[in-house]
Amino acid sequence: MTEVSMDKIISLAKRRGFVFPGSEIYGGLANSWDYGPLGVELKNNIKNMWWRQFVQERDDIVGLDSSLIMNSKVWEASGHLKRFKDPLVECRSCHERFKVDDLSDKEISDLSECPSCGTKGELTDPKQFNLMFKTFLGSAEEQADEVYLRPETAQGMFVNFKNILDVSRKKIPFGIAQIGRAFRNEITPGNFIFRTREFEMMEIEYFVAEKDWKKYFEHWRERIIDWIENVGINTKKINEAEVPEDERAHYSKRTIDFEYKFPFGQKELYGLAYRTDFDLKNHEKLSGKNLKYKDLDPLVGGEKEFWPHVIEPTWGIDRTILAVLLDAYYEDGDRLVLKLKPKLAPYKVAVFPLLANKSDLVKTARKIYENLKIDFSASWDDRGNIGKRYLSQDEIGTPFCVTVDFESLETKDVTVRDRDTTKQERVKIKDLSKYLKDKVG
Ligand code: GAP
Repeated sequence: MTEVSMDKIISLAKRRGFVFPGSEIYGGLANSWDYGPLGVELKNNIKNMWWRQFVQERDDIVGLDSSLIMNSKVWEASGHLKRFKDPLVECRSCHERFKVDDLSDKEISDLSECPSCGTKGELTDPKQFNLMFKTFLGSAEEQADEVYLRPETAQGMFVNFKNILDVSRKKIPFGIAQIGRAFRNEITPGNFIFRTREFEMMEIEYFVAEKDWKKYFEHWRERIIDWIENVGINTKKINEAEVPEDERAHYSKRTIDFEYKFPFGQKELYGLAYRTDFDLKNHEKLSGKNLKYKDLDPLVGGEKEFWPHVIEPTWGIDRTILAVLLDAYYEDGDRLVLKLKPKLAPYKVAVFPLLANKSDLVKTARKIYENLKIDFSASWDDRGNIGKRYLSQDEIGTPFCVTVDFESLETKDVTVRDRDTTKQERVKIKDLSKYLKDKVG
């Protein structure tokens, strides 16, 4: 395992096109990041792996893709308008704001120094600051409706609860899954893609009978661990932290934070919350629409209606990418290798002609590349020497490199080189696709 600093990850991410600073040509925008050609492949591979594991392979979970901007009543019912707030203090001298949670008792006392400009005694009393981004619906701002960008994807699943029940006819326990963007006006963003104001999350709202909540809380605790293993994050760096009542979100009766040992400290990677029937009950109250679940009651022989309780596992995609990159980063002398799980690698295979100026080699290699491209994300490289091409693919995590040499023209086989072992073997061109499928899955 290589101890890796954030600087190394940020530098690799920019140099190889995983993540760029946002709006860079205009001097950037604080804590906004853009995913480049390889970053978007990695992100899509993570989302696909998650969707496969939790939607496609399960009978009890269906998907949803709901709007980013929702009726403001959604946020009134969910409690976000009133309670999705952070207490902040401001320095009267430099006007920098700080989360009270991030300051020590000494720093918030009147005599303390501002952590940014160092002026003494100028921090204000804490004020509540809502984290939701406001925007306006309508052409003229004065007459437009004030609306919010969603701070979590969860509410889309609650407001569609009845629609999904009607079309899917699922029986509890069942879940709704969603992947999408969320927006939070974070006061102290930072640490690269760890905390940003715009990020993506993968969430499941899992509806159960109240009496079963502990059983399914445990079920999802185990599934989160399964995921961490599958995606290639080192479970030894994970700490499950029971969140005390005064630090839990307003809707939660129990929360576990899955913390990861980032280079800047042990911080939340994923969360698991028991949201009770808080959301469905409040949406029913405010909308006047019946959001209860109907079930046969074996005791009375008829139907009973109730609000199911909710277990919510939630995964931040950007934090997943950061943890995956940190754990995949490996230095082997001069060789820098991203030991990504093959399923996550932006390219599964790279194809090279041994020499770029030999048309026979290029023609054969190009044909192999065109064929492999149909089934795998593949990369073509004919620059520099073979050694440099290997190093370049190692850095971006390509698990296999295929080289076409003069022997290939005679024997119809190629050299396949393995990223992790650097071992090479000859494989028949006709068997390449199957060979890669067996290795990459
Ligand atoms: N619906 C539950 C919910 O939103 P959360 O713990 O506030 O829970 C879920 O957020 C996940 O989203 C976190 O575990 C984390 O991975 C990610 N996350 C939260 N805030 C973030 C931010 N500002 N930037 C990047 N990721 C963030």
